[in-house]
Amino acid sequence: MIRQSPDNQIESAFPPLARVPYHVGMIMDGNGRWAKARGLIRHAGHRAGVDNIRPTLEASVEFGIKVLTIYAFSTENWSRPIEEVSGLMRLLGMALRSRLQELHENGAQIRHSGRFTGISEELQKQILHAVDYTKHNDRIILNVAFNYSGRGEILDATRQIIKDGIDPDSLSEETFSRYLYTEGLPDPDLIIRTGGDWRMSNFLIWQSVYAEYYSTPTYWPAFDKTELYKALVEFNRRERRFGSVPDAE
Ligand code: FPP
Repeated sequence: MIRQSPDNQIESAFPPLARVPYHVGMIMDGNGRWAKARGLIRHAGHRAGVDNIRPTLEASVEFGIKVLTIYAFSTENWSRPIEEVSGLMRLLGMALRSRLQELHENGAQIRHSGRFTGISEELQKQILHAVDYTKHNDRIILNVAFNYSGRGEILDATRQIIKDGIDPDSLSEETFSRYLYTEGLPDPDLIIRTGGDWRMSNFLIWQSVYAEYYSTPTYWPAFDKTELYKALVEFNRRERRFGSVPDAE
């Protein structure tokens, strides 16, 4: 977006930032409240939430983010009313059907983080196809955390490590990370949560130990490019020390 400043200079509404997080995790909360505030049913909020993924991905590419992990369905979400759960399952299927080609043509690589347990065979196939179809794209990675639980991920990794007979004494954090769903992805630098809460909600708990956390009261369907930019500006204000002390001390 370009705007005209008072002295007639053209200036960008989004000046370049010194640092852009490579990997952003997004806890997309507030669909229900967004819908309620408009007198709509919760499903309409989830639909609007799905519609907001594309512009967010475009803005992410524009700002130079290389990996965007979106929390689309947590294993805890199974406890929601059955109609809401099946609505969310349907939405992922529809999004993959209607958006896959466009995502592919725009260079997005789709990844899935989560379990297949409980997901219909049809949806499993769609997810596997989307991942395979886009695997060589490298403009941005859209990692969809669907049927995801951070603790579940750690358990799944541990089970596989035991099955593979890895020597406990030689097990390193690097090896462990390779057993996570996010294998090969760098840890997130920034986790954004919409909807006003300050909770991790079992999201990327192994990977986010040094991530900066940003929470905004804006509901997910209303989270736009300006909101994303604000989060990136705040990220630039933070001093990331990774457990060490600043040089001056
Ligand atoms: C929380 O809103 C949102 C989720 C359950 C996860 C995010 C889901 C979407 C953006 C739509 C589904 C996306 C895909 C790809 C299937 P909430 O219902 O908890 O909102 P509330 O806190 O206001 O009730």
